[in-house]
Amino acid sequence: MSELRFDGKVAIVTGAGGGLGKAYASLLAARGAKLLVNDLGGNFQGQGQDVSYAEAAARDIRDAGGIAEANGDSVATSAGVEAIVQDALKRWGRVDILVNNAGIVSASGTLATVTDEEWEKDMAVSASGTFYLCRAVWEGMLERDFGRIVNISSGSWFGMGSAVPYPAAKGAVWAMTRALAAATNALGKNVKINAIMPIAGSRMTQLMGPEIHGLMERDFPARAVAPVVAMLAHESAPCNGEMFTAGGGGYTRVFAGVTQGYRATDKDWTPETALAQFDKVMDTSGFRIPEGSMDEAALYTSDVPWEAFKAFIK
Ligand code: NAI
Repeated sequence: MSELRFDGKVAIVTGAGGGLGKAYASLLAARGAKLLVNDLGGNFQGQGQDVSYAEAAARDIRDAGGIAEANGDSVATSAGVEAIVQDALKRWGRVDILVNNAGIVSASGTLATVTDEEWEKDMAVSASGTFYLCRAVWEGMLERDFGRIVNISSGSWFGMGSAVPYPAAKGAVWAMTRALAAATNALGKNVKINAIMPIAGSRMTQLMGPEIHGLMERDFPARAVAPVVAMLAHESAPCNGEMFTAGGGGYTRVFAGVTQGYRATDKDWTPETALAQFDKVMDTSGFRIPEGSMDEAALYTSDVPWEAFKAFIK
């Protein structure tokens, strides 16, 4: 197989001053992409700001022979994101690849102790940041009929205690990925949006205590996640709207499907029937993966107005 190259492609990787983001940016740059290395430069809980963090990463990439410039704006506000995208556009005229990697974990207590401010901060960086950035590059990618977006979600929403702002924000990232990909599919555009749940030792995993952090540092280096991001960022990316876990040198698919379930036409059915059908509904054999929300309705009716639905997609 020939090497996957990115020559001439313009890429923004957010939160790329260190950790996983730097590994993604370094790999894309080593294979020819022009990199805007964005990072606010605060700590893993989102406190502080220091542009020298992004600058040092960009310098490392240049020292290794790549093309990289630093940007220190925040993804957490639409004004910050406008500045990030304008920075790339002024330098290189377009954005081909976007990796929405910036993230923080500010809430670490329990559901009862999470503050409003922690909720808003975690949502602002991962969920709003991903939204603002996708929105800012969207029209350009559709117009040029080319774009690759890799969103960084997290396995935390499989369960990580009751401090839910971070999992909620990362769940929103997955939902945006699926919904945007369904839109570009329906529009017939070569704009692919996929997501990963990375697993890697980083300053963020210190939060989980020395035992877990030690294992992550030993077995899950950041560089071992980067090949999946590069594959999804490449023009030959084989999928749209998918999610993968990636870590330690491997990757696996994560998907949301629907089972064959229980379908009846009786609109006046009862809770007793719902309970009686429960095992059948839970049976995953013959499951399907909906390609859009109307696919879900199609489970129950053959009368979906598909043309009207297609006209609704923008
Ligand atoms: P990290 O803390 O080293 O990286 C996050 C980066 O985002 C930092 O460099 C930080 O300065 C930057 N950042 C934070 N707020 C920002 C803002 N408002 N604007 C721009 N940059 C901002 O941690 P790590 O582990 O490398 O995390 C990278 C991404 O991967 C994050 O989104 C994280 O949530 C996600 N992730 C990491 C996992 C892991 O196992 N390390 C697991 C699941 C998800």
